[in-house]
Amino acid sequence: MRKLVSIVTVLLAPLSLVAQDAGATSVATDPMIPFYLAVALLFVVALLVIVVAVYMLQVLQILTNEEARKQAAAKGIPYVPEPSWWAKFMNTATDAVPVEKEATVMLDHNYDGIRELDNHLPPWWKWLFYVTIAFAAVYLVFYHVVDSWPLQDQEYLTEVQVAQENIKKFQAANPVDEKTVTAVADPALLAEGKKIYLENCAACHLADGGGDIGPNLTDKYWKHGGSINNVFTVVKNGVTGTNMVAWGSVLSPQMMQNVSSYVLTLQGTTPAKAKAPEGNLYEPGGASSDSVKVQAMIK
Ligand code: HEC
Repeated sequence: MRKLVSIVTVLLAPLSLVAQDAGATSVATDPMIPFYLAVALLFVVALLVIVVAVYMLQVLQILTNEEARKQAAAKGIPYVPEPSWWAKFMNTATDAVPVEKEATVMLDHNYDGIRELDNHLPPWWKWLFYVTIAFAAVYLVFYHVVDSWPLQDQEYLTEVQVAQENIKKFQAANPVDEKTVTAVADPALLAEGKKIYLENCAACHLADGGGDIGPNLTDKYWKHGGSINNVFTVVKNGVTGTNMVAWGSVLSPQMMQNVSSYVLTLQGTTPAKAKAPEGNLYEPGGASSDSVKVQAMIK
C-alpha cells in the first residue's frame, strides 16, 4: 500500500508543477487549463487501473500455479511451473540465449581472451527502431511534404502574433491616459516614438527638437510643465488657440505615450538651432504641482 501511495505521489508531482506554472502566468487567461487538468487526471486514472490490473494478474497467477502444483502432486508427476507472463515477455523482448547455453552461440575468434557471442539483436530494440522509421515517415510527410503541421519557426511566429494581439487587446481595455501615463524606456517603443515624432511633430518642433513654430523641447523650460503627464496632456488635447492641435483623435493612447516619452529623451540634448526658452523652469520631481496643472488642462 505504501508503494502505491508513493507511486501516486510521484505521478501527481507534475500536476502540482503545472498548477504553479499556471499561477505564475495568470490562470484565468488560459482557457485550456481545465482541459489539461482533465487529460492529466485521465492519465493518472488509467495508470492506476493498469497497476491494479497487473497486481490482480499476479494474484491470479499464484492461484493457478498453486492449483497446478496440487494436481501434479495428486497424479504423482513432477511439477514444472509455467513461466510467468513477465518471463515470457522478457524472453520475446530480448531473445537472449540463456547463460548456460552460451557456448552454442560463442564465435570462434578470441582476442586476448575477449570473445564474442553471436546473439540476435534484441527484438525490443528492433521494434523501437521500426517505430522511429515510422515516426520519421509521418514526420516527413506532415511537416515537410503536405506542410500541414507548423515547423518550429512558424510556431514561434504564431505565438508572437498571438502575444501581440493580446497586448493590443490589453491596451485597448486599459488605455493610458493623462493620469496613468508613464515614460517608456524600452528602446523599441522609443524608436516607435521617434518615428511618430519625425512624421508628425518635426515640422513645428524641428527634427532635433530645437523648436520653430512650436517651443524648444530640449531645454528645461516648459509652458505647460515637463512631466510625462504634462507632455502627454498637451499632445492629447493640444493647446486651444495655438498651432498645437490635439492629437488624441489621430494617435492612439499608446502612440501618444511613446512619442511623449521620446520627447522627454530630447531633454539636455543640443539642437542645431535652439529656440529661446519659453515658459517656466521645470525640474523633474520638483515642487511644481503637475497633477493640479493636468487637472486644470483636462477640464
Ligand atoms: C503645426 C505645428 C505643430 C505641430 C505639428 C506640433 N506642435 Fe507641439 N506645439 C506647437 C506650438 C505652437 C506649441 C506651443 C503652444 C502654446 O503656446 O501653448 C506646441 C507645444 C507643444 C508642447 C508643449 C511645450 C511646452 O513648452 O510646454 C509639446 C510637449 C508639444 N508641442 C509636443 C508636440 C508633439 C509630440 C507633436 C507631434 C505629435 C507636436 N507637438 C506637433 C506646434 C506644433
